[in-house]
Amino acid sequence: MKTIKFKHDSQPAIIQTKQRLLDAMLVRQVPVQMLCGGRGLCATCHVHVVEGSSQLTPQTDREKLTLAVLTGAKANSRLACQAQVLGEGIHVELPKGLYVESFAQLEQLIGKRAQQPVLHPLDARVLIQEGKIITRSVVNELKSVDFDWQKINTRSASEI
Ligand code: FES
Repeated sequence: MKTIKFKHDSQPAIIQTKQRLLDAMLVRQVPVQMLCGGRGLCATCHVHVVEGSSQLTPQTDREKLTLAVLTGAKANSRLACQAQVLGEGIHVELPKGLYVESFAQLEQLIGKRAQQPVLHPLDARVLIQEGKIITRSVVNELKSVDFDWQKINTRSASEI
């Protein structure tokens, strides 16, 4: 058994050795979208490992490819679905942001103020800045954004 701490949560997650950071997030009911189904192809399980990164499996080639295009990725970034837990002392921080997966979801935000940055789910680019009021014109400016998850999910990692 291994203990994973989250910066936003006073309760740690207890998981089995070799389970993924994603499993620890699910244990603590972190709302993680997993839009690619845990295949290392999206941004929605991106985390920062603030302590204990040596206690995780190394980055896979697929993870490296995805992190390379991920806006806001840092040296301590990992995809929670790809990182398996080997030891103790792991402390994780969740990057700020709300991933949206469709234009329709963006439209549902009209009239609200962005409480956190609104991010694209594939590369985490900022679609709407934190604090901005989300108006119809702001959303219309994002009409050309590609949210085609069928296409994304049928790509191989080499096509990222
Ligand atoms: S769930 Fe998509 S990369 Fe982890």
